[in-house]
Amino acid sequence: MTSSTSLLFSVFTLFSLLLLASSSKDNTPATITIPLTSTFTNSPSTKPLRFLQHLATASLSRAHHLKHGKTSPLTQISLSPHSYGGHSIPLSFGTPPQKLSFLVDTGSHVVWAPCTTHYTCTNCSFSDAEPKKVPIFNPKLSSSSKILGCRNPKCVNTSSPDVHLGCPPCNGNSKNCSHACPPYSLQYGTGASSGDFLLENLNFPGKTIHEFLVGCTTSAVGEVTSAALAGFGRSMFSLPMQMGVKKFAYCLNSHDYDDTRNSSKLILDYSDGETKGLSYAPFLKNPPDFPIYYYLGVKDIKIGNKLLRIPSKYLAPGSDGRGGLMIDSGFAYGYMTGPVFKKVTNELKKRMSKYRRSLEAEAEIGVTPCYNFTGQKSIKIPDLIYQFRGGATMVVPGKNYFVLIPEISLACFPLTTDAGTNTLEFTPGPSIILGNSQHVDYYVEFDLKNERLGFRQQTCQSCTFMHATGCRCVPARNG
Ligand SMILES: *[C@@H]1O[C@H](CO)[C@@H](O)[C@H](O)[C@H]1NC(C)=O
Ligand SMILES: *[C@@H]1O[C@H](CO)[C@@H](O)[C@H](O)[C@H]1NC(C)=O
Ligand SMILES: *[C@@H]1O[C@H](CO)[C@@H](O)[C@H](O)[C@H]1NC(C)=O
Ligand SMILES: *[C@@H]1O[C@H](CO)[C@@H](O)[C@H](O)[C@H]1NC(C)=O
Ligand SMILES: *[C@@H]1O[C@H](CO)[C@@H](O)[C@H](O)[C@H]1NC(C)=O
Repeated sequence: MTSSTSLLFSVFTLFSLLLLASSSKDNTPATITIPLTSTFTNSPSTKPLRFLQHLATASLSRAHHLKHGKTSPLTQISLSPHSYGGHSIPLSFGTPPQKLSFLVDTGSHVVWAPCTTHYTCTNCSFSDAEPKKVPIFNPKLSSSSKILGCRNPKCVNTSSPDVHLGCPPCNGNSKNCSHACPPYSLQYGTGASSGDFLLENLNFPGKTIHEFLVGCTTSAVGEVTSAALAGFGRSMFSLPMQMGVKKFAYCLNSHDYDDTRNSSKLILDYSDGETKGLSYAPFLKNPPDFPIYYYLGVKDIKIGNKLLRIPSKYLAPGSDGRGGLMIDSGFAYGYMTGPVFKKVTNELKKRMSKYRRSLEAEAEIGVTPCYNFTGQKSIKIPDLIYQFRGGATMVVPGKNYFVLIPEISLACFPLTTDAGTNTLEFTPGPSIILGNSQHVDYYVEFDLKNERLGFRQQTCQSCTFMHATGCRCVPARNG
C-alpha cells in the first residue's frame, strides 16, 4: 500500500464542550455529539523505538488485563489508557459543571474520575505530572453531588459480592440506614484505584442526566492514568446505558496526521433510525466471565486474498470464556492469541519477503515482524480483512494495522500476543482484540438496541492546515 505516512500522535488536549446536533420536538436532543480527541501522549518522531517498545509493553498489559478480568465486574477497568493510545471526550459533571476529559473505553463499564484535592497516585504512569496538577472532579464544589447510599439498589449492583457486605443491617430508621455504599477498589494487573460512588448530574447542552453513577477515585497505585475514564462496555453503568441511548458512533482520526488539533466526533444517539450505507456484524452473546465486551461474529480472516482458515474455536467465545473477537476502543492496535498470531504473521512474512526484516528493531521493541525499507520508495503491505457473520467484511489497510516510521524506514506489525508463537495454548478470554487503529477511517456504530456493529469506510479526518509531508485535507463527513 503506502509509504510516506507518518504516525499521528496528537497531544492530549482538553477540548471545550462544543456541541450538539439535531433537536426533537420536546427539546430533548435526539443526538448528542461530542468532540473526540486522540490521547497518544508521546511523539514517535523523538524516540520512535523507545516509544514503540513502551507501546508494545503497555499493549501486552492491556491484553492480559482484558483476558483475565473475570473476578468481578468491577475489576474490569483499563490499565493506563494513555500509554497505549486511545481517544477521549470532554464531559461535564456537577452544578455548576466541572469539565474533564474522559477516555472512551468499550472494554470497561463504569465511569470514573480522579476526585478530591487529596487525590494521590503512587508510581502511576503519569508520574511525571505532579499529583496536584491532575485535573480532578471536586464534588465539594458541586451542589448536585450525592454519595451513593447503601439503601440505593445501585449500591448492590455496583458492588462486587463481598464488598456490599460492608453495608450494615438497616432496620427502619436506624443510623445504619444512611450509611454510604462501601468504597470501591478496582484491581488490575499491576495497580489499583479506589474511591466512592457518587450520584451526579451529567450535563450536555439541552440535556441533563440526573443521578448518573460516577466513581470518585481518591487514590491509585501502579498502572493507572490520571485521565478519567468513561466505560462504554455492555453494562448497566456504562455511559451509553446510563444515558439510555440506542446507539453510539464515532469515526476516528487517522493516525497519519500528527499535527492537527482537529478532533473527530462521538455521537450518542437516541433515535431508532437506520444509518445509511452501513454493513453490520452481529454482537455475540457474552460468556459469563466476560459480560461487558463487544464480541463480534466473525467467520474468518484474510491477509490480502489469502483466506487463513482460522479454527472456529478462536472466532467465537465458548461458554468457558475462551476465544472470540472483541472490538476495543481503548486499545491502540490489538492482540491475537498464539495460534492466530502465527497464522497471520506467517502469511505476512510470505507476502513481505522482498523487504529486509529488522531483527534488531524486533528485539528492541518486542514486536514482530518488523521491516527495514531503507532505499525503497514505498512498502507494500497487504490488507487485513475480517469476514463477519452475515456477509459483511471490514478491510483494514496496511497503514492502519502496521506502525510505519518513515523517518527510519521502519514498518512493524504491532499487534501483541501472549503465548510464544510456537505454542498451541488456548488461553481464556478473547482470542483476538481489534484495537482502535484498525477501525480508523471507518464510521463505526455500536447499535445497542439491535445488538450489532455497523460500519462503513469513511474519511474521518479533517485537517486544520497542510503540513510539509502532505496532509490531505478532507472535510469530515459525519454520518
Ligand atoms: C515505586 O517505584 C519504585 C521504583 O521503581 C519502587 O522501588 C517502589 O517499590 C514502588 N512503589 C510502589 C508502591 O509500587
Ligand atoms: C440490579 O441488577 C439486577 C439484575 O442484574 C436488575 O434486575 C436490577 O434492575 C438492577 N437494579 C438497579 C437499581 O439497577
Ligand atoms: C447497625 O449495624 C451494626 C453492624 O454494623 C449492627 O450490629 C447493628 O445491630 C445495626 N443496627 C440496627 C439498628 O440495625
Ligand atoms: C535499516 O537499514 C539501513 C541500511 O542497511 C541501516 O543503516 C539502518 O540502521 C537499518 N535500520 C533499522 C531500524 O534496522
Ligand atoms: C476542523 O475541520 C473542519 C472541517 O474541515 C473545520 O471547519 C474546522 O474549523 C476545524 N476545526 C478546528 C478546531 O480546526
